[in-house]
Amino acid sequence: MIPLYFAPLEGITTHIYRRVHARMFGGCGAYYAPFIVPSAEERVSQRRMRDILPENNSGIPLRVQVLTDSAAAFCAFAEKIRSLGYGELNLNLGCPAPTVVGKGRGAAQLRDPEGLDRLLSDIFSQTDMPVSVKTRLGFADRTEMERLLPVFNRYPLSLLILHPRTRAQLYGGVPDIEAFAAAYTETKSDICYNGNITSAAEYFQITERFPRLAGVMIGRGAVQNPAIFREIRGGERLRSEELVSFTAALAEEYRAAKLGEGQVLMKLKEIWAYCIARYPGEKKIAREMKKADTVGAFLAAACALPPLP
Ligand SMILES: Cc1cc2nc3c(=O)[nH]c(=O)nc-3n(C[C@H](O)[C@H](O)[C@H](O)COP(=O)(O)O)c2cc1C
Repeated sequence: MIPLYFAPLEGITTHIYRRVHARMFGGCGAYYAPFIVPSAEERVSQRRMRDILPENNSGIPLRVQVLTDSAAAFCAFAEKIRSLGYGELNLNLGCPAPTVVGKGRGAAQLRDPEGLDRLLSDIFSQTDMPVSVKTRLGFADRTEMERLLPVFNRYPLSLLILHPRTRAQLYGGVPDIEAFAAAYTETKSDICYNGNITSAAEYFQITERFPRLAGVMIGRGAVQNPAIFREIRGGERLRSEELVSFTAALAEEYRAAKLGEGQVLMKLKEIWAYCIARYPGEKKIAREMKKADTVGAFLAAACALPPLP
């Protein structure tokens, strides 16, 4: 079976979310933690480290991601996580957020293949930690991959995770499957597909077309349906009661982590902005959940959702 990965979703798939998901659903080979940004002095704050500390991720297969344009910061961080027991570091080359791109990081690094080549050359000469990359097709245009892929092919990446959109597309439109197919053919690294998989059927469409995939990564589709990995493995379909119990368990864990009621409610609403897509006919309940001003009212409204097909 092709390995399944839970994509990193900053602000959502935190250690708390991952723990509850692993306990109640699991089914993915590893979770990628949302990006960590080292400071200009190459340091990473305790607060940022908390998300990846082994004691907060016990029993969870975790891979760590860094967002940086500095080989020194990458390598210093690689050493730090090696001492925590991690065996791979993922480089984020896809983040489209203006605050990140404005600093020349994430997807901005795709604008400069020569600079990226220098960065990877420095990284690979300074660390023996396995390095994987998570990238888009390019910054403005999908044809940029024609210049980026030869750069990636010069290095022994442990995995090339490709989300076949450009930065300009953000998360809109559809992933460019033909552009992915070209990279799939040309890459010398193991390649992982990522983008818009929201059902087992969509997973099988991708894996039938690309049988040599070394991984399939699912993000929003797994937040929308936390049982998606189980469904892909032939297990039971998601039930509404499970989704509500999962939400209640998340609320409990957020409270245990000392989040205030307002913050807990905000987190649940952020997650349900995805889950509610499973209930296209339930506009009234969706409105009630959106309007809810306590966690109790939110969960009570969710309990009225009908069974899923
Ligand atoms: C709210 C949000 C936060 C994200 N945070 C990260 C991140 O920290 N690191 C990263 O590599 N990608 C991040 N992504 C991108 C996802 O990991 C993924 O590549 C993208 O959503 C496409 O896959 P999907 O359609 O399966 O969600 C984020 C996406 C969203 C919507």
